[in-house]
Parts: sequence; C-alpha cells; structure tokens
Amino acid sequence: MPSPSERPTARAHREVTAVLRAGDLAVDATAGNGHDTLFLAERVGEDGRVIAFDIQAAAIDATRMRLEAAGLSGRVELHQASHGRLLETAGRGTVTAVMFNLGYFPGGDHAVITRTEETLAALGQALEALRPGGLLTIVCYPGHPGGDEESDAVLAWGGALAADAFRCEVSRRTDTLRPSPFLVMVTRSRD
Ligand SMILES: C[S@@+](CC[C@H](N)C(=O)[O-])C[C@H]1O[C@@H](n2cnc3c(N)ncnc32)[C@H](O)[C@@H]1O
Repeated sequence: MPSPSERPTARAHREVTAVLRAGDLAVDATAGNGHDTLFLAERVGEDGRVIAFDIQAAAIDATRMRLEAAGLSGRVELHQASHGRLLETAGRGTVTAVMFNLGYFPGGDHAVITRTEETLAALGQALEALRPGGLLTIVCYPGHPGGDEESDAVLAWGGALAADAFRCEVSRRTDTLRPSPFLVMVTRSRD
C-alpha cells in the first residue's frame, strides 16, 4: 500500500522497477537533470539501452555529466530533440518503460515548459512504442502557468484510452489540499 505522502517521482520509480529487466529498452522523454535517465540506465544493465530526449542543451549536458559520473553513459543515447521523435527513434512495440516528467527544467529557464499539444502527441507515440506489458509513467505538475491545462489534458487522454488495450491508473498524494504533482500510469495489455 503506497504511503499517502509518497512523491509521484518515487512511485514512478517503484512501478518501473517492477517491470523493467536487464537487457530491456527504456525511454526518458524529458531528461531534465537526468535523474530518471540515470535510474533507467541502472535498471537496464549493461546489455540494455536507454533513449533520452530533451530540447534544451543545458538538460542534455546535465544528464550527460550525471551518466558519466556514474560510468553509465555507454548504455544511453542522448538526443537534444523533442520527444516528438520518440517513435521513429525507439521503434514500435519495443520499449518496456517510458517516463515523462512534465513541466520545466529545474534550475533552468522556467519559460521552457512541456506544451500540451506536443505532450499529447508524444504520449500517443509512447503507447505505440510500448511492448505488451510495458509501462508509461507521466508525472504532471498542476499549479504552474500551463501546468493546470496540461495536467487536465493528460487525465482526459488517459481516461479515454481503450480499456481492452491499456490500463490507466492515477496516483495522487492524499495528505495535502494544495494542487500537488500527481502520477499517471498506463500499462499496455499483454496480447
Ligand atoms: C521536469 S523536467 C524533467 C526532469 C527530469 N526527468 C529529471 O529527472 O531531472 C522537464 C523537461 O522537459 C523538457 N522538455 C520540454 N519540452 C520538451 C519536448 N518537447 N521534448 C523533450 N523534452 C522537453 C524541458 O526542457 C525539461 O528539461
């Protein structure tokens, strides 16, 4: 049973840990400071591969440094590009876990945020890239400019997915009244 105060990023790591195996392919759609990329690189092992995207050079540099410090850069492809290129880069039905962490680059330019239309298009690509039994996690941030609209759109998108093909679950902290980040998880059904 999750703790009521478990952070959505921690829950996302816990859920991905349950599905990702050594040798798998994983995608970090929003690399930022590289915490999720490093986490995925650790989980896929030396025979696995991680593909990470971010549109900002500063984010790609920060992620590269984090991976190099851990000695894991060899298993990660870094793309300074939009996650709009997810499907063409990863391929269809190949990926065990895709992680999105929406919003802005912490410590960077807060005006550069994920954009609802682009996010929804990339989420659609992520579903096509998932293999059966694969997991997509999306951490949403209501409460910053653009964040409410994007969070609502992600919830509506997840709620409209075909129930025979995908299972969508939302995890929110229950110990706060303020708008706080929440996690949307989508699992592709096994064929
Ligand atoms: C909240 S941060 C990600 C934090 C990161 N997961 C970590 O562990 O440090 C969101 C990131 O999304 C990036 N971003 C915004 N639009 C994007 C797009 N279209 N494609 C890829 N990344 C994008 C931003 O540059 C920012 O670095």
